[in-house]
Amino acid sequence: MSLDAVLGRLESTEAEQVDRLKAWLSMPSISTDPAYRSQTAEAADWCARRLRESGFEVRVLPTGSAGSPGHPVVLATTPGDAEYAGPHVLFYGHYDVQPADPVELWDSPPFEPVVVTDDAGRKRVVARGAVDDKGQVATFLEAMRAWHAETGKAAGGVRMTVLIEGEEESGSANLEQFVSEHSDELQACDVCVISDTGMLGRDRPAITYGIRGLTYTEVTLHGPDQDLHSGLWGGRVPNPINELVGVLSGLWDADRRVTLPGFYDSVRELGDDERAQWRSLGIDAAEALRSIGLPAEADIGEAGYTATEREWARPTCDINGIVGGYTGDGAKTVIPAQASAKVSFRLVADQDPSVVAKSFFAWLEARTPRGCRWTFHDHGGGLPATTPTESPAMQAARDALRDASGVEPSLIRSGGSIPVAGLLKASLGIDTIFVGFGLEDDRVHSPNEKFELDCFRLGRRTHARLVDRLWAIGR
Ligand code: BES
Ligand code: MN
Ligand code: MN
Repeated sequence: MSLDAVLGRLESTEAEQVDRLKAWLSMPSISTDPAYRSQTAEAADWCARRLRESGFEVRVLPTGSAGSPGHPVVLATTPGDAEYAGPHVLFYGHYDVQPADPVELWDSPPFEPVVVTDDAGRKRVVARGAVDDKGQVATFLEAMRAWHAETGKAAGGVRMTVLIEGEEESGSANLEQFVSEHSDELQACDVCVISDTGMLGRDRPAITYGIRGLTYTEVTLHGPDQDLHSGLWGGRVPNPINELVGVLSGLWDADRRVTLPGFYDSVRELGDDERAQWRSLGIDAAEALRSIGLPAEADIGEAGYTATEREWARPTCDINGIVGGYTGDGAKTVIPAQASAKVSFRLVADQDPSVVAKSFFAWLEARTPRGCRWTFHDHGGGLPATTPTESPAMQAARDALRDASGVEPSLIRSGGSIPVAGLLKASLGIDTIFVGFGLEDDRVHSPNEKFELDCFRLGRRTHARLVDRLWAIGR
């Protein structure tokens, strides 16, 4: 095949690739905020055009219902090649991004992408969505563009389906229905490949074979039917904030284990082999803490597990936000009518997000402070997913990444969540290989999010080589 020509073309056209990525990044496709609906659709169309230019047959399909429309899915397929009989890859990514707040902490406007050089002389593109996930999807789009330019065929003749969604950052609420409505088509895929994860570091490429699941809830404790003077009423009535934090503090025991009954029942214990393999990766927990302004003694979590084990293979619970009463400037004495908290659980196999949400709500109900009542909202989430590390497609991905980087990739897991992976496994039996190019200091979801041009280049080369490897298996 024409791999060398494809790699050469990728090498010589970097400037225009960066310009294309900047054009996509300038579209504020914030899926969670209805104010950005049209810009979100624009980002979908942009991506559809790029795939069409690379020979794919592309549809931009609506999701949700007439009453509650979702953001479109870009679904594309290669015409395929009669000669090709290898694994049919489903490439998944998302074109939506997180909100940019707090905007004042950005050094340049979040949707005016810039390429800047850091102190070490490395170039990075800075914008919301740079690494999560437009920049990573662009590594794939550019590889496809180069294959098409060199061979005249989509994906160089390899059979491929592409699904780019616009609701990942808001919980993929309409994806389950979409996958079930398109199951005939998606069923044809053998394996999913996602570039939406990170590496172990610069020059430490990695393939991720497991991610955690998630269940995200919002709970509100209601007390009096009005805000009250805390002098006249303090001591006479339940204060919903006092009561809420009192109840929530019971979610962890002294070993920092989650106290919900049955929470660990379906958790698959880590094997000694996997623990040993992870220790051999030489991950420096103290250094990671230092990089976020914490001392080594801040290495805390569930007793009996290392930081890596806790992130990759243990379920956890976090309060992500808590509000109630007076939060403005200065002092105001008040007992509020209500208080609420956003509480999430990261899950591992074989925990079920909806079961955990129900058990959390029942646990709260059993602890209702006297005279108060709860309202609950389940924001959804996703199943955990782990992928077998031995398969022809996994080997192809490892080979492609090794050849592109010159380093044997490590096999890692991640504590983050990508709902589609568990969904594809549960509904269609499809495993996912996570081939991502992010770095730990990319500021995912934060101000000054960036994607380094070296990572962009490695991603393009890897996807270009993966096509070649798949072709080799398939004929
Ligand atoms: N790409 C991230 C998840 C991720 C990042 C996984 C780094 C592994 C390494 C994804 O876009 C994300 O932010 N997911 C959310 C969940 C979603 C349901 C909002 C998360 O993990 O919080
Ligand atoms: Mn992502
Ligand atoms: Mn994200």
